[in-house]
Amino acid sequence: MGRRESSAMVLLALVLLHGVQAGRVLPVEEPDVSATVKATRVSVIIIGAGMSGITAGKTLSENGVKDLLILEARDEIGGRMMTHDFGGITIEKGANWIEGVNGPNVNPIIPIAKEIGLVNDRSDFENITNNIYGANGKVDLEVAEPANKFIEDLYESSESLALRLTNDTDVSVLTAQRFYGRFPVTPVEMALDYWYNDFTSAEPPRITSLKNTQPLPTDAIFGDDVYFVHDPRGYKSVVHHLANSYLENKNETITDNRLKLNTLVNKIEYSKEGVEVTTKDGTVYTSDYAIVSVSLGVLQSTAIDFVPDLPFWKLKAIYTFDMAVYTKIFLKFSKKFWSSGSGNKFWLYADERRGYYPIWENLDSEFPDANVLMVTVTDEESRRIEQQPDSETLDEIMGVLKNMFGKDVPTADDIYVPKWVADPLFRGSYSNWPVGAEPIVFQQLQAPVENIYFTGEHTSELYSGYVHGAHLQGMSIANSLLDCKKNQKCAPTAQVYDNLSRDCAGHLEAERNREKLMWRKKIARLEKELTEARHVK
Ligand SMILES: Cc1cc2nc3c(=O)[nH]c(=O)nc-3n(C[C@H](O)[C@H](O)[C@H](O)COP(=O)(O)OP(=O)(O)OC[C@H]3O[C@@H](n4cnc5c(N)ncnc54)[C@H](O)[C@@H]3O)c2cc1C
Ligand SMILES: *[C@@H]1O[C@H](CO)[C@@H](O)[C@H](O)[C@H]1NC(C)=O
Ligand SMILES: *[C@@H]1O[C@H](CO)[C@@H](O)[C@H](O)[C@H]1NC(C)=O
Ligand SMILES: *[C@@H]1O[C@H](CO)[C@@H](O)[C@H](O)[C@H]1NC(C)=O
Ligand SMILES: *[C@@H]1O[C@H](CO)[C@@H](O)[C@H](O)[C@H]1NC(C)=O
Repeated sequence: MGRRESSAMVLLALVLLHGVQAGRVLPVEEPDVSATVKATRVSVIIIGAGMSGITAGKTLSENGVKDLLILEARDEIGGRMMTHDFGGITIEKGANWIEGVNGPNVNPIIPIAKEIGLVNDRSDFENITNNIYGANGKVDLEVAEPANKFIEDLYESSESLALRLTNDTDVSVLTAQRFYGRFPVTPVEMALDYWYNDFTSAEPPRITSLKNTQPLPTDAIFGDDVYFVHDPRGYKSVVHHLANSYLENKNETITDNRLKLNTLVNKIEYSKEGVEVTTKDGTVYTSDYAIVSVSLGVLQSTAIDFVPDLPFWKLKAIYTFDMAVYTKIFLKFSKKFWSSGSGNKFWLYADERRGYYPIWENLDSEFPDANVLMVTVTDEESRRIEQQPDSETLDEIMGVLKNMFGKDVPTADDIYVPKWVADPLFRGSYSNWPVGAEPIVFQQLQAPVENIYFTGEHTSELYSGYVHGAHLQGMSIANSLLDCKKNQKCAPTAQVYDNLSRDCAGHLEAERNREKLMWRKKIARLEKELTEARHVK
């Protein structure tokens, strides 16, 4: 903790010492001018090669815009569809399920999955009341069943309240629960409440918007079945398939030089004349348009310097929406101490502390001999766990497993704890709709600023947080760019938002400048103290 704060302070000091120009902080590391290459100007630069960026490129390409450049910081495409080799099996660190199956409409991911023969199975969530554990082992059915009935009723009641809310009224999921006179309090009730709510939204009922998440559009439109992907090629092979349809490749490995991997963007300058994108190594790429597909968490961070600053309405939308955290922790054992088979796939752990290692899934049917368990945590628990050594997490987990199955449970041989918040390329797992964010936030999240377009799962009003949301938005945003480029039908919305927020923006600007001034003074003092201290030594 202490170390984090002080390094942030030093960074801030460096930033501020470099001065402020026209209200903007200059980049800390000025790129080495000799390394600066002005590459040929292209029509569109896409930043980020996850599902949304790759889909946007495909739509552009199919509509004749082939002078593209896709800049991706990682050494592969796929983004949050990402695998990890865990003791010989391929596990999904990020997206795992095709969600929204067997409903009235076909989820667009399904035909792609079928085409490439993606290995996946329907998850069976039945029988959960038979698989609830607490501090003293298995919870009796006499306790579990009434608790489950209560939480299910509560869920249905809040859903019906959601449908009756007028357009301009929204409440949190917790507020809706309170309307029904009683909300979850016992460990078993809290675990079930988590199972029905947080397991999807990755944030607690206190935060999540009721009106916009119940009923969930993905369930209502595409169906509420979910299919767990366990393909050795990874869920990311869906993105590879889309990429291979328009990027040159040899034996399915992309060789097209319009895709630049290991290319971290840290500055985007835009004006009526075009876009200049600067990467970490100092290369400058120029284009007429850009499509930014980085996660909401990245947009909320200072990783990419937009010049000029994004307008107030855009920043407000970015800062209003939530980047949630969802962490799947994997454990490998020398032997199974649990019973497999249907009706035993998912278990709940009901602790007095809500969200303490609550959701368990054995991967027996997917990886029969691997003896792997997966436990899911979210939100503050994810943040807490990311900060501690994995050995401490393992100790906590072993404590929980001993509560569940008895003291003879063998210690896991291996543990894998993804760190989504710490990862500067994601800063969280997926977005969640918080109470207080009106649907207009989505129009603002996706509205272009001059020639900079925005896509990604977080810009999808109906399917934010999902793979299909990222995919559908990639198409939609590319189409809106095409409409502007080809037919001069450009999204007029930016001007509307600008007008609405002009007054407010003025105040904010002044506020920011005051803050900067205050910090600069403080940093200058600290710097002076540091220099003096060094002098004494
Ligand atoms: C743990 C977890 C579980 C999930 N489970 C599911 C699930 O079961 N089902 C489901 O449908 N969805 C799930 N999701 C959500 C799903 O993965 C996302 O909605 C989707 O993959 C997002 O795609 P995207 O293209 O919008 O963003 P991303 O995949 O984040 O793509 C953005 C790309 O930008 C790159 N980038 C970032 N910063 C820079 C920079 N400065 N310069 C250059 N490149 C940069 C990143 O490396 C990344 O490749 C899950 C996500 C996580 C993390
Ligand atoms: C509420 O919003 C929906 C969808 O935008 C719209 O069709 C409906 O007319 C609105 N109802 C009222 C009372 O404003
Ligand atoms: C194609 O790639 C696969 C998987 O990477 C590999 O096993 C195979 O040998 C490759 N084939 C050729 C012709 O290079
Ligand atoms: C439900 O779970 C219990 C306990 O794990 C198990 O004994 C039972 O067979 C399961 N029932 C069904 C229908 O799968
Ligand atoms: C925004 O405000 C300007 C100046 O007041 C005005 O000319 C313009 O028509 C407004 N645009 C929209 C879309 O309301």
